[in-house]
Parts: sequence; C-alpha cells; structure tokens
Amino acid sequence: MNTNILAMETVALDDSERALVIIDQTKLPNCAEYLHLKTQGEIWTAIRELQVRGAPAIGDAAAIGIYLAALEIDTEDYDTFARRFHAATDYLNTSRPTAVNLSWALNRMESIVRNNEGKSIPEIRSLLRDEALRIKQEDIDICKKIGEHSLTLVKPGMGLLTHCNAGQLATAKYGTATAVMYLGHQKGYNFKIYADETRPLLQGARLTAYELSAAGMDVTLICDNMASTVMKNGWIDTVFVGCDRVAANGDAANKIGTSGVAILAKHYGIPFYVCAPSSTIDLSTPTGRDIQIEQRPPEEVTDMWYEERMAPAGINVYNPAFDVTDHELITAIITEDGVITDFAHVFTRKQ
Ligand code: MRU
Repeated sequence: MNTNILAMETVALDDSERALVIIDQTKLPNCAEYLHLKTQGEIWTAIRELQVRGAPAIGDAAAIGIYLAALEIDTEDYDTFARRFHAATDYLNTSRPTAVNLSWALNRMESIVRNNEGKSIPEIRSLLRDEALRIKQEDIDICKKIGEHSLTLVKPGMGLLTHCNAGQLATAKYGTATAVMYLGHQKGYNFKIYADETRPLLQGARLTAYELSAAGMDVTLICDNMASTVMKNGWIDTVFVGCDRVAANGDAANKIGTSGVAILAKHYGIPFYVCAPSSTIDLSTPTGRDIQIEQRPPEEVTDMWYEERMAPAGINVYNPAFDVTDHELITAIITEDGVITDFAHVFTRKQ
C-alpha cells in the first residue's frame, strides 16, 4: 500500500458534509482510509472501537463531534439548546473512561455554551466551531513543544524505545512520545527506534512501526516480552511513552504494559520519560489508584488477529486496557512547558 499516512489527517472537520473525518485506525496498516462520521452514535462508536484513539486525538475528535451535535440541535432558545448540548456531551463522555482528554475537551466546549448565554444560537455554534479547531491546533503546537523539550534529553544515534502508539496517529501531528523522533529525524539524528508491538491490540505494530517507517526512520518491531532483552543488550538509551491521565502525585496511566517497561528501565538504569500535554494532567485525581481503568472484551485476547481462537472456550480473561506507572519509576514528565522532574511538587503547587 502506497498511501502516505503522514499526509493524512488523523482527525478533521468537513464543514460541507457536516462530518467528523478520521482515519479508520482499526484498518491500519493494510488499508488507510477515511471515515466520515455524522451522527453522535457513529462518533461514540468510533471512539469506543478505537477507530480514532490516543488521548489527544480522542479529545480532538470529541470537540469536533460535539460541535456537530450543536448543529443538529434545532432550537433558537438558549436554555433548550444548553440542556440538549449538555446531554450530548454527557453521552460522548461515556465512550471511553481512562483518557482525561475526552472530558477535558468536552468541558472546554461546554464552557463556550455557558459563557455566551446572551448570544444567539448561530453565534454560539460558530464559537463552538472555533473552539474545536483551536483544540486541534493547540494539540499540534503542544506536541511540537514536547518534541523540542524531549530533544534536549537525547543525542544523535541513540536507541529509543516506545510502547503503544503515542504518535501522529494519536494526535493531530507529531505525537507526544514520537515528537522527539520526528524532530530528531528532521535534524538527521539517526535514532535506532524500538517499538513494542503492544498486545492485545497491537498499536505498536500496526500504528507506531507503520508511521515511523513511513517517515523513513530506523524502527525495529519487538514483541512486548523482548523489551528486557533489548535493554540488557545495551540497545536502549531512553524510553519515551505517552499517557492517558496523570494523577496529581505524578502516577501516570498509559497503555497496558507501560508500567512493566518502566520497571525494566529502572532495573537497567535507563531514563523513562512520560510525554503528556498539560490537558492530560488531572489534578482532581489524587493518585493512580483513583484512575478508572477501562476493561475490554476477552475476544481481544483470545480471538483477535488469530485465524482461529487461541484459548480454550470459556476461559477467564482479564483484559485491562491501561496500567498505572508509579511516579517513583518516572524520570520526568515532559509537557509543553518543559521537562518536569519534581512533578509531584509542581502539580501540588498548581492545585
Ligand atoms: O487504547 P489506546 O490505543 O487509545 O491507547 C493509547 C495510549 O495508551 C497512548 O499511549 C496514549 O493515549 C497517549 S497518545 C499521545
């Protein structure tokens, strides 16, 4: 397949069709095609089924999606509009529980409605459109800044390991954990990148390995259980991962398997960096124990990707989509504001 994935937009608004346009990530890497989503049900399902996924991209999609909901609310009365808009945000907010960017983006959109009570409904709709596009543009700018800060922590030729996909496909551009890779690649840094395949949904194999190799980077795919070996071999200088929610004490939820990588990195003395836009930091969640972890269907473990079922029928399956990396294992959290090593202290001051 010759589609240039990097020229495609992860999330976009099509005004003429009144549609949220996303790359269907469940079909990658074999087929890169856009989906045009028009109804709230379609958007909810696309988020739930990971057709659009990755914390910032979920926020971008929800913002555009809820703007489309506002276009469908057929009233000129502010109270009726605000009530129905609120019901629509509540609905979209139930699509996935762990990435805080979903509720963060929906809250930002709701505040537009709340703060413009005196304006006409067409004016409010127009402000909602501006805000949705602003959220997406900010995502691009923030990822670039995260990449620039991350670049101060690496040297040309280093071995970098990442888990899941915190890449361009998880954001509007650059990714969070991969921003350092894209910016370093532009500077000729020749990183040796290792991508964990990331069981059970294979975001590392299907998405990270795909987008980084499409960009011309030196990327090697490994099974999750090989991370220890490549670290022991001395091939990994630094780990960069994304995240779905950072608690006030610095504990960070990310794709299942991330905390194991952090434990290995600690064992081998390798810096472990969590890349997080400040929208992913949730000061209302005290610790990682308070983060709701999404549980997903057993078939993702027993059946998906296999030609036939690879586990006994009826077997108990535990399939949490995320885990929490304890803050003690995190060398620094990299946000658009910089590299934060004393994050628990910094976050406490912000509260
Ligand atoms: O279940 P997913 O694919 O949405 O999980 C994505 C991750 O865990 C990412 O690492 C995280 O959202 C950060 S994306 C910049």
